[in-house]
Amino acid sequence: MKSMASPVLYLTLSLAFSFPLSSSTLDAMSKGTSLSIEKPEVLISPNSVFSAGFYSVGKNAFCFAIWFSNSSTVVWVANRDQPVNGKRSKLSLLKNGNLVLTDAGKFTIWATNTISLSSVVQLSLYNTGNLVLYNKESVILWQSFDFPTNTLLPQQLLTRNTKLVSSRCKTNHSSGFYELFFDNNNVLSLLFNGPEVSSIYWPEPWLLIWVAKRSTYNNSRIAVLNSLGNFSSSDDFTFLSNDYGAVLHRRLTLDYDGNIRLYSWEKERQTWVVSWQAIQKPCRINGVCGANSLCKYVVGFGRKCSCLPGYKMKNSLDWSYGCEPEFDLSHHNKNESIFLLLSNVEFYGYDVGYYSNYSLDNCTNSCLQLHNCKAVQYAFETGDCFRKSLLLNGYHSPDFVKNTYLRLPKSFKSIKNPVKEFSLDCSKEGTIQLDRTYVKNHEKGMVKFLLWLACGVGGLELTCIFVVCCLLIKTRKSPDADNQGYCLAATGFRKFTYVELKKATKGFTEEIGRGAWGVVYKGVLSDNRVVAIKRLNEANQGEDVFLAEVSIIGRLNHMNLIDMWGYCAEGKRRLLVYEYMEHGSLAENLSSNALDWKQMFEIALGTAKGLAYLHEECLEWVLHCDVKPQNILLDSNYQPKVADFGLSKLQNRGALNNPSFSRMRGTRGYMAPEWIFNLPITSKVDVYSYGIVVLEMVTGKSTIMGVHTTDVGNEAKNRRLVTWVKEKKNGEVATTSWIDDIMDPKMEGIYDKGKMEILVEIALQCLEEDKDARPTMKQVVEKLHQLENDLL
Ligand SMILES: *[C@@H]1O[C@H](CO)[C@@H](O)[C@H](O)[C@H]1NC(C)=O
Ligand SMILES: *[C@@H]1O[C@H](CO)[C@@H](O)[C@H](O)[C@H]1NC(C)=O
Ligand SMILES: *[C@@H]1O[C@H](CO)[C@@H](O)[C@H](O)[C@H]1NC(C)=O
Ligand SMILES: *[C@@H]1O[C@H](CO)[C@@H](O)[C@H](O)[C@H]1NC(C)=O
Ligand SMILES: *[C@@H]1O[C@H](CO)[C@@H](O)[C@H](O)[C@H]1NC(C)=O
Ligand SMILES: *[C@@H]1O[C@H](CO)[C@@H](O)[C@H](O)[C@H]1NC(C)=O
Ligand SMILES: *[C@@H]1O[C@H](CO)[C@@H](O)[C@H](O)[C@H]1NC(C)=O
Ligand SMILES: *[C@@H]1O[C@H](CO)[C@@H](O)[C@H](O)[C@H]1NC(C)=O
Repeated sequence: MKSMASPVLYLTLSLAFSFPLSSSTLDAMSKGTSLSIEKPEVLISPNSVFSAGFYSVGKNAFCFAIWFSNSSTVVWVANRDQPVNGKRSKLSLLKNGNLVLTDAGKFTIWATNTISLSSVVQLSLYNTGNLVLYNKESVILWQSFDFPTNTLLPQQLLTRNTKLVSSRCKTNHSSGFYELFFDNNNVLSLLFNGPEVSSIYWPEPWLLIWVAKRSTYNNSRIAVLNSLGNFSSSDDFTFLSNDYGAVLHRRLTLDYDGNIRLYSWEKERQTWVVSWQAIQKPCRINGVCGANSLCKYVVGFGRKCSCLPGYKMKNSLDWSYGCEPEFDLSHHNKNESIFLLLSNVEFYGYDVGYYSNYSLDNCTNSCLQLHNCKAVQYAFETGDCFRKSLLLNGYHSPDFVKNTYLRLPKSFKSIKNPVKEFSLDCSKEGTIQLDRTYVKNHEKGMVKFLLWLACGVGGLELTCIFVVCCLLIKTRKSPDADNQGYCLAATGFRKFTYVELKKATKGFTEEIGRGAWGVVYKGVLSDNRVVAIKRLNEANQGEDVFLAEVSIIGRLNHMNLIDMWGYCAEGKRRLLVYEYMEHGSLAENLSSNALDWKQMFEIALGTAKGLAYLHEECLEWVLHCDVKPQNILLDSNYQPKVADFGLSKLQNRGALNNPSFSRMRGTRGYMAPEWIFNLPITSKVDVYSYGIVVLEMVTGKSTIMGVHTTDVGNEAKNRRLVTWVKEKKNGEVATTSWIDDIMDPKMEGIYDKGKMEILVEIALQCLEEDKDARPTMKQVVEKLHQLENDLL
């Protein structure tokens, strides 16, 4: 199965038009008749699913369009770039067989350019949503299916001659910048065709075409979606929708944000639901923010753009023009440049020269040699150095190991540039000013580097609006080994029916865990995959909130996070389907003492990676809030996978301090002081809990040991473990072997003292009472990485 992970999202991306005119209905139009805008008439398909007629797109502006009768969702437009006047405009089927749209009684705006001498020529809207002009012999002269706009309906072919073109934006249906079409290699592709640059961004251009599982050999260039939700293309690209099977209506739409989504109509709620989408990380869509800008994804808002430091928006009404420098480019000479660090920021493409095994100085110096070098991308591990002549498609991602160093004039600090963010909408709303932290950091030599915590934790903590919190449910226990580890990304995320899951769990019989939020059952899907099915208590939250959350969790994809394979939401029932980890949790393995020091180290590192991903992936950021050994599952190679993240409710900080929220706090024994003292909750609460987990792991001493009686007692106990370790470390008679004193005696002294000392020191930093003194999860990963490299 090649369908990609695809969350169901609730989106209001549907073409937000105003409403069609209320009107009388027609079955067909024949030669010599017309539909006039003043006497509103619409053509209706025999099943009444589709309507065609004049559709209002603005003040006194109309398009001739086809829409779903019930939802008014437009699927085709004749004159999207040239709306007609609300007076004396009409669609006429002329005597010669030509169908024409005239504006204000005069200008022909659009025509099918058909000619027919046949005595009968008729225009009808078919049940499929196809508007068809045919003659007496039922020969099709013209059909709207041959001229798609931004939507492909089931059975409508996308061919070598057709393409989908997105709308300009949410409120404007004229042609936008994104196109879906077959490229010259026969590959179905998404193209950003912007005002200044154009580039293909799907399939990902850096993938070899066969890695992207496409074929270039079939030149028939045909793609089609069937009504069950099976899309297949002649380049071997196929997918099945999340809700494969009979659904009332479907449409595949190239949305104005450059993503292509399959929507299903949910009858009960009379709304469209996304059942597949091509791109999971919206900032990877090219052209999003134009040149010299950074894209970031904000939960609940969608994508936002901001100009790079030293740059300003080119056209304050239109993000697609990007940003331009506020400084004079002629200052880009050798003596007058500085470089500003943008951590984990990628700008794809436009490299002028690639060097390896360079020092950072070598890299920036080589940039200074070039007049048009705007920045360098540099990776410390490999010494890879790329000089950039254009800064396009910028986004931040902790996955991205290189940093970008932006070249700016020395006078940069005098440039007044509050970093502005703007949302991607036609309207000018939502300009938000953010605090940014600039930390100066001297490097030897003439080049100074400034640390810019753009999208990293610094920035996020300052701009934190949402905290996503957490639930707890026990994990599982099973003896058998299993190796269903890695090929998960390909298996796809889907919606399950309750009946399916009931069957998979044999009527919810084999309980493997239980927590405040529901019960976990073991199950076997019809394709024989073993799963852990978490049945949440009924009506924990509204269905819309639930779907929004599921879409977030479903999109998180990291080897150190447990995979979610699907969900079920029917009525009040809420179930989540996870991969099943045969090896149980860290808690179980700690108590059975099956771990050696290298494995402990790997678990510490992997857990840190998973949490760092949750905290810092710009796409979404999620606090876990319940980090503990029970929530760290192990695969067959002792690679940890963090579970139970993001089972959540979007809450702002105010709500976190609300007493009703207190039950969502983490598990006693692992809770940071902020919880107890009612201080703001940040990602540092997870850092704290992580520190406890590491100490427990290395000392073999548990902070909770099943004691769940008094809060205070337990918090005191976890303080005691911390204090004990600290005392040993800083003991009055500081000995070199303090580590031997604290290590789990069951290890029998077999471990690398140096490494373990550093690991414990890192854990203690994580356990600082003052949250600001704790490192971020990402810093922990970096430190452990260094250790690991020494280790190998
Ligand atoms: C359209 O809406 C009407 C009334 O709201 C409803 O009876 C009908 O089932 C709907 N049709 C579809 C196709 O959803
Ligand atoms: C829609 O966008 C186009 C292209 O930017 C613009 O020319 C047109 O005026 C816009 N229409 C409306 C109704 O805003
Ligand atoms: C989907 O369609 C393709 C091409 O028609 C076919 O090969 C494949 O078996 C179909 N998949 C399912 C699940 O029906
Ligand atoms: C090319 O693709 C079309 C449509 O998917 C399919 O019907 C045809 O069999 C393919 N041809 C070859 C040679 O694979
Ligand atoms: C750069 O500095 C050197 C010496 O510091 C000077 O000779 C040279 O003229 C300067 N170049 C420019 C372009 O200012
Ligand atoms: C990289 O450079 C260093 C010193 O500049 C050299 O010792 C090393 O062999 C180089 N590595 C490679 C892979 O070229
Ligand atoms: C890199 O920098 C070092 C020290 O500054 C210098 O010796 C070396 O020649 C530089 N290498 C290149 C390729 O510029
Ligand atoms: C982890 O603990 C579970 C439960 O005690 C046990 O079945 C499993 O074998 C342990 N894992 C390993 C790799 O030893």
